[in-house]
Amino acid sequence: MTTADVPTQRSNPIGYGSMPRKEDERFLRGHGRYVDDITLPGMLHGAVLRSPHAHARIVSIDTSAAQAHPKVRAVITGHTLEGLNLAWMPTLSHDVQAVLATDKVRFQGQEVAFVVAEDRYAARDALELIDVEYDPLPPVVDATRALDADAPVIRDDIEGRADNRIFDWETGDAAATDSVFARADVVAAQDMLYPRVHPAPMETCGAVADMDPVTGKLTVWTTTQAPHAHRTVYALVAGLPEHKIRVVSPDIGGGFGNKVGIYPGYVCAVVGSIVTGKPVKWVEDRSENLMSTSFARDYHMHGEIAATRDGRILGLRVKVLADHGAFNGTAQPSKFPAGFFGVFTGSYDLQAAHCELTGVYTNKAPGGVAYACSFRITEAVYLVERLVDVLARDLGMDPAELRMRNLLRPEQFPYRSATGWEYDSGDYPRTLRAALEAAHYDELREEQRQRRERGELMGIGLSFFTEAVGAGPRKHMDILGLGMADGAELRVHPTGKAVLRLSVQTQGQGHETTFAQIVAEELGIPPDDVDVVHGDTDQTPYGLGTYGSRSTPVSGAAAAVVARKVRERARLVASAMLEVDPGDLDWEKGRFFVKGDPTSGATIAEIAMAAHSDLDLPEGVEGHLDAQTVYNPPNLTYPFGAYVCVVDVDPDTAQVKVRDFVAVDDCGVRINPMIVEGQIHGGLADGLGMALMQVMAFDEDGNHLGGSFMDYLLPTTMECPSWRLGETVTPSPHHPIGAKGVGESATVGSPAAVVNAVVDALAPYGVRHLDMPMTPAVVWRAMQGRPLRT
Ligand code: CDP
Repeated sequence: MTTADVPTQRSNPIGYGSMPRKEDERFLRGHGRYVDDITLPGMLHGAVLRSPHAHARIVSIDTSAAQAHPKVRAVITGHTLEGLNLAWMPTLSHDVQAVLATDKVRFQGQEVAFVVAEDRYAARDALELIDVEYDPLPPVVDATRALDADAPVIRDDIEGRADNRIFDWETGDAAATDSVFARADVVAAQDMLYPRVHPAPMETCGAVADMDPVTGKLTVWTTTQAPHAHRTVYALVAGLPEHKIRVVSPDIGGGFGNKVGIYPGYVCAVVGSIVTGKPVKWVEDRSENLMSTSFARDYHMHGEIAATRDGRILGLRVKVLADHGAFNGTAQPSKFPAGFFGVFTGSYDLQAAHCELTGVYTNKAPGGVAYACSFRITEAVYLVERLVDVLARDLGMDPAELRMRNLLRPEQFPYRSATGWEYDSGDYPRTLRAALEAAHYDELREEQRQRRERGELMGIGLSFFTEAVGAGPRKHMDILGLGMADGAELRVHPTGKAVLRLSVQTQGQGHETTFAQIVAEELGIPPDDVDVVHGDTDQTPYGLGTYGSRSTPVSGAAAAVVARKVRERARLVASAMLEVDPGDLDWEKGRFFVKGDPTSGATIAEIAMAAHSDLDLPEGVEGHLDAQTVYNPPNLTYPFGAYVCVVDVDPDTAQVKVRDFVAVDDCGVRINPMIVEGQIHGGLADGLGMALMQVMAFDEDGNHLGGSFMDYLLPTTMECPSWRLGETVTPSPHHPIGAKGVGESATVGSPAAVVNAVVDALAPYGVRHLDMPMTPAVVWRAMQGRPLRT
C-alpha cells in the first residue's frame, strides 16, 4: 500500500489534510450505532415470507395457523395491504412494485407476507405456518429472450402491457455515426456482458418503525442513503403528512447503491407498527439481502468502434439490452432511463457516437442501481475500454499508444462529448503517462515477451476512465420530480464551536471528518470544533442523499458556500466590533483584522460571541452567526484516472493472480488524501471482485444461485495485491474548492483493467474477449482447443 514509488504530482490538500477520521473513535471501539442496535420499549419483530418461485400465480394464502401462534401479533398479506391501498408502491423509476404480492410472484425471494411477533425467532417460526398455494408459470430468465413473441408477459398488472419491454432509449447522432463508420478503415466489434452483481454491503437492510398513536408521528430508523427522499416517498405511499414523518439513518455499514431505494420490508415494518400500535423492527439476513434487494449492472452490450488504419478513433456505435428484473426499480435521474450510460464515449475525442438501449423485465429481483458508480458509468467505461483494447489488437497496435493517441487534450476542456456531456477539466495524457511510468510499462512489455517465449502467461491491462459525478443540476436531474440539489446549514455557537447540518448520509466514507475540514478551511477553526450532523430528517435540511459520488461535488460545495456566507456575516459583525467599514477589513485564516493594522482584529470565536451579545449590530444583521444555503450544481464534476493491471495466469490451473496494480486518480483537490486513498483501495478491491469472481447467477427456472457468501464471492486481502496509488490534480473549475467526487472511481475504472490484462495474458491462445467473471473455469475453457501461439 505505497504511494511513494509512484512519481506523480501530489495535491495540496485543504485544511488538515490526512487527519484521522473522527468516526474512527466509535467505529474502531465497537460503538457504532446501526439500525439493528436500536431497541425500543415494547418493540416487536417482523419477518418476511418470500416466494420460492420465480414466476407463479398466487392461488390462495392461508394465515390462520400463523395467526394462532401464541407470540404472533399480526400477519399481513398483500390482501391486507390492498385494503389500505398499500399493496403497491412507486419505484424510483416511475414504475410500481408490489409491497406484498397479491396476484403473482415475479421473482424468487419476492415478498409475500409479513409476520409481526414478540421476538425474531417466533416471527421466523410463524412464517413456516403460512400456507401459500402457487400455480407456477414459465419464467423469463434470459434477458435476450424477454422480447420473444412467445415470452410470458411478466407485468400483466400494468394495463395494456403486451410484452416485457420497459423502455427504448437512444442518444447520439445515428446518421453522423453511420457516415463516420462508412469512411473508417477499420471497424472492430465485440459483444460483451456486464453480469448481474450485487453491492453486498457489510450491514444488510432493515428498519425500526415507530408510529406514535398519540401524536400520530411516525419515526423510521432505517438503512437509507437518502433519508429526505425516503421521507417524501413514505408520505406519498402511506398518505401520511410529511411533517409527521421522521426518517433517521444512523450508522450504516456500507450502502454502495443498495440502500437508495425503498424496500417492501421497510413499508411492512411501518404497517406493522400502525396495526399493532408498537414499534416494529425488521432486519433482513444475508440471503434475503442478496436475493431480493437491488442488484447492479446486467447489461448485454454490443459495441462497434471505427478508426483509421493508423489508430485515430472516429466513432462508436452501441446497442444494449438492459435486464431490469421484475419491477423497474433502478435509481437514476428521471430524464436518464439508462443513467449516465450516455458517457460511453469515454475519454476520447470522437467525431460521432450513437447508442440504442432497450430495458426489459425478467423474473429476477428488481434493481439496476448505481453500485459504487454514477448511474451506469461503470458499464459505459467497461464497454469503451474493452473496445479500445479489441481495436488495438485488430490494428496490431500497443493499447497504451492507441489510448495516448486518442485521449482528449488539456486544451479541449471544457469539452462537449459527441453525446452532449460537458466535461469540466482534465489533463489526461499527463495522468496516463504517470501510470505507465509507475508501472514501468516498457519493461513489463519486454518481460512479457520473454515469458511468452517460455510459454508463461502474463498479461498487462490498461484502462482510462472518465466519470461524471455529482448529480444535479436540478433542472436536468431529479428523482420522482425532486431536483438534485442539497441544502446545508451552518451555525457558530457563541464560543466559536460550530455545527454543520447536511442532507447527505455517510455510509463509512468519513463525511463527519471531511465536511468539518471544509468548514475549518473556510472559517479557520479546527475541524474538531465542527460537528457534522446528518442522517435525520428532523435535524437536517432537505437534499437528495449520498450515491453516485455526489456528496463532495454537491454537499461539499454546499458546505464551502455556507461557510463563506457565515464568513461574510462575520465580516459585518467584526466591522461593528472594530468600528470600521466592512471593506476596510482583511481576512486571514480564522480572523478579520483592520487593513494595515494586523494587531486590531477579531477571531471567529470573538465575533461569534459578539454576534450573540448586546453589541449594536449593523443594518441587515439580525444577530447570531449562522447561514443556510441550497447548492444547485452548475454541472457534474468529471474525475478521471489511468489504471494498469499486471496478471499472471497459471497455465495448469487457469488461476489468475493480480501481481501489480497501479492506479493514478485525478479527483481535483483532495480534502483528505488518506480518506481518498481508502476509497480507492475499496473500489479497486470491488472491481477486482467483479472482474474475477462475482456473478448473480440463476438457473433456467429462475432459482437464485448466489444466496450466500459461499456462492457469491467477495475479494479478500488474499486476492488483492498491494495497490500502488498515484495522483494528478486538475481542479474542477466550477466547484467552490475545486474538488471532484472520488468514492466510486476505482470501482468504475478497475474491472476493465483487470479483464484487459487477463485477455492480454491469453492472447497467445487467440482469445479476443472473455466475459466476467474470469473464474478459473472460464479462463480454463478459453484455453482449451486453441493452439498456443508464441
Ligand atoms: O458521495 P460519496 O461520499 O460516496 O463520495 P465522494 O463525494 O467522492 O466522497 C468520498 C469521501 O472522500 C468523502 O469523505 C469525501 O469528502 C472524500 N473526498 C475528498 O477528501 N476529496 C475529494 N476530492 C473527493 C472526496
